[in-house]
Amino acid sequence: MLIVSNWKAYVSDLTKAKKLLEIAKRYARKNLAIVLAPPAPLLGLFSSKGGSVGFAAQDISLVMGGAVTGEITAEAYALSGATYALVGHSERRALGDTDNIVTEKLARALSGGLIPILCVGEEERDLEGRYLSVIREQLTTTLSSLSPKELSRVVVAYEPLWAIGKTASAAIKPNDLTEMVLYIRKVLSELLPEKASAKNLVLYGGSTEPENAKSLSHETGVDGFLVGHASAEPESYALLLKELS
Ligand code: PGA
Repeated sequence: MLIVSNWKAYVSDLTKAKKLLEIAKRYARKNLAIVLAPPAPLLGLFSSKGGSVGFAAQDISLVMGGAVTGEITAEAYALSGATYALVGHSERRALGDTDNIVTEKLARALSGGLIPILCVGEEERDLEGRYLSVIREQLTTTLSSLSPKELSRVVVAYEPLWAIGKTASAAIKPNDLTEMVLYIRKVLSELLPEKASAKNLVLYGGSTEPENAKSLSHETGVDGFLVGHASAEPESYALLLKELS
């Protein structure tokens, strides 16, 4: 199982950040890989290559370098110890990342040596199942231009917008997650030859909390979680990781 802890802009206190890192180290093991996605300066401060905890960029720049003040390239993140990059998180999409931009960022992450965690998710669930075509569209438009080798490195995080930043009771139900994981695997299998897509990790994100983590991980086929608010408070983070251990 892979747990990606997306601190967003929740953490800017060094004592708290150190506490969260200690908790991650305590629970990280072979079958519970833990990746932290802190704000960029903290990533640079904390990350150590080869440590038990991995690091991810919360976003990467579209630019490849040059005279662009404030941008952080995939290469710079890789150099400061990141191995993953979130790409297309809904909070970045809300600030202007279109599918075209997401496609380019995927390419930047891969060429910069980072494993992209591609976030996809529908805004709402309708009874006619249109949400499935939203997910198909997001996956195919962003992944079609990648080579099979590149595609095999991509992690997909399914993050329905209606479930983000709420509480466990508003999160997806295990049955619905099982359906979605199968569906994402089906779409990936159409993009990748043979059985290669079975190796792509599929994560879930959206109000994963200590209360629902176990049931969402059990028999849903999900390979892990992209956790936001519950990963940014020591108490809930420790409880969550305990539930998943
Ligand atoms: P949440 O965020 O766990 O706070 O819902 C998940 C995410 O946006 O990655």
